[in-house]
Amino acid sequence: MSETVVITGASDGIGAAAARALTAAGKRVVLVGRSREKTAAIARELHVDHFLADFSRLDQVHRLARELLEHYPQIDVLANNAGGIFGGREITVDGHELTFQVNHLAPFLLTTLLMDRLVHSQARVINTSSVANTTYGRLEVDDLETLEGYSPNRAYGNSKLANILFTQELARRFGDTGLTTAAFHPGIVRTNFASGSTSPMRMLYRSALSGLLLSPEKGADTLVWLATTQPGVDWVSGEYYVRRKLGRVNVQADDPELARQLWERSAQLVTA
Ligand SMILES: NC(=O)c1ccc[n+]([C@@H]2O[C@H](COP(=O)([O-])OP(=O)(O)OC[C@H]3O[C@@H](n4cnc5c(N)ncnc54)[C@H](OP(=O)(O)O)[C@@H]3O)[C@@H](O)[C@H]2O)c1
Repeated sequence: MSETVVITGASDGIGAAAARALTAAGKRVVLVGRSREKTAAIARELHVDHFLADFSRLDQVHRLARELLEHYPQIDVLANNAGGIFGGREITVDGHELTFQVNHLAPFLLTTLLMDRLVHSQARVINTSSVANTTYGRLEVDDLETLEGYSPNRAYGNSKLANILFTQELARRFGDTGLTTAAFHPGIVRTNFASGSTSPMRMLYRSALSGLLLSPEKGADTLVWLATTQPGVDWVSGEYYVRRKLGRVNVQADDPELARQLWERSAQLVTA
């Protein structure tokens, strides 16, 4: 029986490219997207299952987890890849800053809702972070939702630093169950990224320079590598990778107490 690989953000960009590569490698890929049309189109192309959830609504993350638990007795890989950079400070229906919720709280919730199944499956959890964790991340544990000093870049950098802290804490809490995890930066990749943002970053992706960016296939390479090689042999659980090598992280990622606090507060926020 081939391994089951659930990929969020699989309707486009890096996630769709990873879904194509992992299907070609013989995995049973399960797509999760937000757009009904885009997700169904990739599912038709690859002949795989698909599910929908908008991560700006935590009720939809709960529904997604229920559906995945119902359909898949074994989940070998969970790739938390959905995400993006947005515009002015916006609050979701759940009362959270949008970037923090879509990029961190929703995948945190999805992973914890699936935890028993992931542990039972000795799964690997792969989190798509970004180099923005170092360039823009400056996380205040008492202001996780960036009430002070909000900018799209800062909120994005913080959420991508949160992905790395989550990866570390997941490895610390569940490492002895056999579950493994890694975060990675895909490179600067020519996708829809930043298209709905007011961040100056969007210019790069829409300018003539976009031709110089990595293709989505190249951007998916480290995700595919993490999903198909041996944790503990080819890569170390709890770490952050760039181009298949250990990457440099924000100095705040050297603080296990911050990772612990982020986990505790995230758990409170998704149950509040
Ligand atoms: N491109 C880069 O240079 C770059 C660099 C570093 C990190 N990243 C990270 O790579 C990941 C994938 O981005 P990409 O470059 O492939 O961008 P993309 O082409 O815009 O794809 C983003 C994916 O995330 C999904 N998504 C966005 N908002 C969502 C929401 N509210 N709820 C559920 N799903 C949502 C999209 O779903 P729909 O299309 O169905 O709406 C799409 O499948 C992101 O986490 C991003 O932060 C990208």
